[in-house]
Amino acid sequence: MLTTKQCMELEAQYGAKNYKPIPVVINKAEGAWVWDPEGNKYLDCLSAYSAVNHGHLHPRILKAVEDQLHTLTLTSRAFYNDRLGRFLKRLCEVSGFDMALPMNTGAEAVETGIKIARRYSYATKDIPDNQAEIITAHQNFHGRTTTIVSFSNDDNATQGYGPYTPGFKHVPFNDTEALEKAINKNTIAFLVEPIQGEAGVIIPDEGYLRKVREICDQHNILLMLDEIQTGFGRTGKTFCFEHEGIRPDILLVGKALSGGVIPVSAALTSKKIMDVITPGSHGSTFGGNPLACAAGEEALNVLLDEKLSEKSLELGAYFLKGIQAIDAPIFKEVRGKGLFIAIELKDEAGGARQYTELMKEKGILAKETHVHTIRLAPPLVVKKEEIDWALAILKDIFTNH
Ligand SMILES: Cc1ncc(COP(=O)(O)O)c(C=O)c1O
Repeated sequence: MLTTKQCMELEAQYGAKNYKPIPVVINKAEGAWVWDPEGNKYLDCLSAYSAVNHGHLHPRILKAVEDQLHTLTLTSRAFYNDRLGRFLKRLCEVSGFDMALPMNTGAEAVETGIKIARRYSYATKDIPDNQAEIITAHQNFHGRTTTIVSFSNDDNATQGYGPYTPGFKHVPFNDTEALEKAINKNTIAFLVEPIQGEAGVIIPDEGYLRKVREICDQHNILLMLDEIQTGFGRTGKTFCFEHEGIRPDILLVGKALSGGVIPVSAALTSKKIMDVITPGSHGSTFGGNPLACAAGEEALNVLLDEKLSEKSLELGAYFLKGIQAIDAPIFKEVRGKGLFIAIELKDEAGGARQYTELMKEKGILAKETHVHTIRLAPPLVVKKEEIDWALAILKDIFTNH
């Protein structure tokens, strides 16, 4: 078995350096816990960027995948397979949409949403060819394709990758006046995360999404919500939009859709809107593959059967309160919704990285987002005692350093 040092050296020699991981190698996992090759155990407080909401190696999802693995794994969409329809039916039942288009990664779901919104708008509104505009939010994160980075304002994600795809503009997040002002005759949609995850778990004011919904209705533009990180229980509801009692026109999901076992993503919408997608106009070799569908269907069932969203709501409030009670001179703000929590540090703390590395030394894995924020997003199966254990460590770190 390779040691931590050997694994890290191999990656450094042969892998592109497009990530700067916390210096830990994971070679085993179960539930909310992961292990390194030397046998050290860590509480996973990242959950693969909220893909592992159901916990690592959930036995029911594994069983579904194992059964499928020995039956049928890939057909492409040149043929039907016997798993896709039932998976999409379940996804539509759980989300309340009429139809879904299955893809693999989150970025592909976002690309799919953009294509659907453009096609539908050209077909139903008087928008001149190639002039459709989508409004996005400052500090958004929707993925890494060349089109998606075209509307990112993170220099690190965009620099050197031009020419950029036209047709997008930005408004500040949590600013409905700016949104309304930015709408013009060619605007077709507003694409937004209900809570900005990668920007540092930025939670908008209560009522923001409701007002956004109203504006989109008034101006006849589509509301496209990216719940790739916030979906499937992370914020204490199946979808974050439920907190505000609204529904988007197009919903983008990924990550925890399969419990993090296999890449599965989807764009969901009404039949009327989805009908603009015709044979040959979009697709993916692996999108809708039977193995992914088996994982996705069972992950949806587990989410509901185990009441993971309710657990996230309750334990998230408990965890948040516990962190807020730590008397830490370097905390600027501790915020969260469900088990989606951020500790933002004051500038004088000198950045969050040293603290995430210290947390790793003490058995908690988390990752800094941008410079000053630590995101805490454990699998939703985490237990109250495990949160108490983590709170004691966080208290020790942030009151003594
Ligand atoms: C809100 C949001 N959208 C899209 C993505 C992209 O997903 P993927 O990395 O699977 O392409 C992410 C990933 O972190 C995300 O958080």
